[in-house]
Amino acid sequence: MVFQKKILQCNKGNKLATEILIASDHGGIRLKSILLSHLTANGIVATDLGSKADGISVDYPDYAAKLAGSIRSNEGMGILICGSGIGMSIAVNRYEWVRAALVHDETSARLCREHNNANVIVLSERLMGELTAISCVDVFLNTDFAEGRHLRRVEKLSNPSGLLAPQEK
Ligand code: RB5
Repeated sequence: MVFQKKILQCNKGNKLATEILIASDHGGIRLKSILLSHLTANGIVATDLGSKADGISVDYPDYAAKLAGSIRSNEGMGILICGSGIGMSIAVNRYEWVRAALVHDETSARLCREHNNANVIVLSERLMGELTAISCVDVFLNTDFAEGRHLRRVEKLSNPSGLLAPQEK
């Protein structure tokens, strides 16, 4: 594996940071270790919240919860990986402070930061190539939230019940 050598900067709500959290279930351990090497080689401190037990089947909601909890306490950003990316994406988006995007290409990685201020990128180990996954992480970490018209929309994500009609509450 040859990594593209470039300077990475984590983007923490338009404030550059040098740390990121990462977690996976058993379906994402291999890609997670590739990304950890890439991030470390580029000066990013990536904290691995597990799973670390290769070959042991675990439940993705448990690792989505670990990452969501850690992000809440330090307002950080995160990377989640499972086999398809779908389970992690559903699980972690249940926490109201999380804006997670399941991404398969660089354009989505850019747009989820620019338009949605995503604080978690979710990747699939089984449905995407590792070089694409690395590129997606690089773009995610180096793209700012565009704010402007997107700010109002992103703020609405924090209170979905408030958007319901009275009879729907
Ligand atoms: C585990 O086999 C697999 O179901 C999980 O990694 C993920 O793809 C679920 O959405």
